[in-house]
Amino acid sequence: MQAPKITVTGSINIDLVTSSPRFPQPGETLMGTSFERFMGGKGANQAVAAARLGASVSMVGAVGSDAFGREALENLKREGINIEGVQVLEDAPTGMANITVAEGDNHIIVVAGANSGITPAHIEACEKQIAAADAVLAQLEIPMACVITAAALARKHGKPFILNPAPAQKLPAELLDWVTLLTPNAHELAICLGLPENMPAEELIARAPCPVLMTRGSEGALYHDGQGKLRRQGGFNVMPVDTTGAGDTFNGAFAVFRAEGMETAVRKANAAAALSVTKAGAQSGMPDAAALATFLAAQTPP
Ligand code: RIB
Repeated sequence: MQAPKITVTGSINIDLVTSSPRFPQPGETLMGTSFERFMGGKGANQAVAAARLGASVSMVGAVGSDAFGREALENLKREGINIEGVQVLEDAPTGMANITVAEGDNHIIVVAGANSGITPAHIEACEKQIAAADAVLAQLEIPMACVITAAALARKHGKPFILNPAPAQKLPAELLDWVTLLTPNAHELAICLGLPENMPAEELIARAPCPVLMTRGSEGALYHDGQGKLRRQGGFNVMPVDTTGAGDTFNGAFAVFRAEGMETAVRKANAAAALSVTKAGAQSGMPDAAALATFLAAQTPP
C-alpha cells in the first residue's frame, strides 16, 4: 500500500517536564524527582506519530526565531517531516508547555507563543499541502480562525478533515459542519458541544452533528461505524510511564491506518497510543511500523 499523505495544521511546542511523587496543592512547594526537556505540541506530536508509522507528512505551523524553535524544526526534519509550511516568527517565542507528571497522570500549562501568531493567511498559503493530502489533521492549540480556514480548504479539495478538539472549547457550528471526524475524549466532547460534562458518553456522541471517534484512555475507544451502530474497542494493558501525547499518538496513527477501515485503524491507533505511554516524553515512545506490528502480534486477537 502507498504511504498515506498527511498534512497536520497545528502547534509546535517544547515540553518542560517535571516529575514528582504527587501533584502540589495550590500554594505548596514540592520537591520533584526529575526535570527533562522534550519535543511536543499537539500538532508536532501528531505529525511525528504519523511519520514514524510510514506516512508522508507535511507540517503547517509556526515556531519562534529562538533556540527552541531551531531545535523543534531540527526534530521535525529528523523525523522526515516536510516543514515548508512552518513559519519562523521573529517576534514570538516558540510555544512552550509546562508539564507535571505525577500519580500516573499529568498537568499541562501551555503558553502558545508563536502558535498564536499563525494567521488564516498562512494556512491559505499552505493550500497546496492541504490539496495534496489524503487526510488533514488539526487540534485547537492554534487560533480558531486558522482551524476553520484549514477545514474550509480541506472541504474545498474534498479531503477528510480530522479534528482532535484539544484543548477543548465550544466549537462553532460552521466548523462542526466541515469536520469529517471529531476525535475528543468524553470531557472534551461535552465542552465542544456546550453540553453537561456528566452526560453519558453515548448520549454525547448521539448529540454530535458530525461523526465522532471518542478516545477513552486505557479503555480504548467508542465510535460510529458509519452504518448507524456505536462500536466499542478496548485498549491495551501496558505499564504507563508518562501519558503525555497518548491522544496525539492515537490521532496520528489513526490517520495513517484510516484507509484500512474503522475497526483496524482504531485497533492500531489504540496500540500505538499504548506503546507511546511506556516512555517519558510525548514523542519518545511513539512506535515505528515494525514496533507496532511486533506489539500487535504479541496480543491475543480481539
Ligand atoms: O498532547 C500533549 C501535548 O500537549 C504536549 O506535548 C504539550 O506540548 C501540549 O501541547
